[in-house]
Amino acid sequence: MTKPQIWVAAVLVLFLLLFLLEENTNRSDEQKKPAPNMSTQMQQSSQSKTAEQLVSSLGCTGCHGADLAGTKMAPNLHKVKEFWSRDKLINYLRNPSSFMASDRFKNYKAQYPSVMMPSFSNIDVKELGKIADYLLEMKK
Ligand code: HEC
Repeated sequence: MTKPQIWVAAVLVLFLLLFLLEENTNRSDEQKKPAPNMSTQMQQSSQSKTAEQLVSSLGCTGCHGADLAGTKMAPNLHKVKEFWSRDKLINYLRNPSSFMASDRFKNYKAQYPSVMMPSFSNIDVKELGKIADYLLEMKK
């Protein structure tokens, strides 16, 4: 090879190396990017959520309806003030199955035979208090 040919070859090799290097860094950047998923949403401290946000993020609205006025799956929650004190309501949300004895709940069981009110005992009591206040303040 003549000297100029060596230079051309060297420059080509350099370009090739730079190209490969760039490809590689792009790929590892992509890998570092966290997949967009629920976790970022869930990391948002529930402490900062309003009762309305809690009621939708915990799925209450999924059963009781967007306005919590009841659906085919679950009863209207606009009347809870008639039935519950704040403490009782919080206890109920933590452990609904221990409040099934009353006639109202026997009727619910007949009306919504395939749906169960889930227990929210894994939720911070403060949050449940927020929800309870919200439900107890709701207009009929
Ligand atoms: C899977 C559906 C479902 C979800 C989710 C759900 N509920 Fe219920 N809820 C029910 C059903 C069904 C009943 C009727 C009682 C029963 O059958 O267990 C009920 C009953 C209740 C009652 C008692 C109503 C009364 O007349 O005293 C309250 C209060 C209540 N739910 C609040 C909530 C809140 C607050 C949330 C969210 C934190 C929630 N529910 C999430 C299905 C659901």
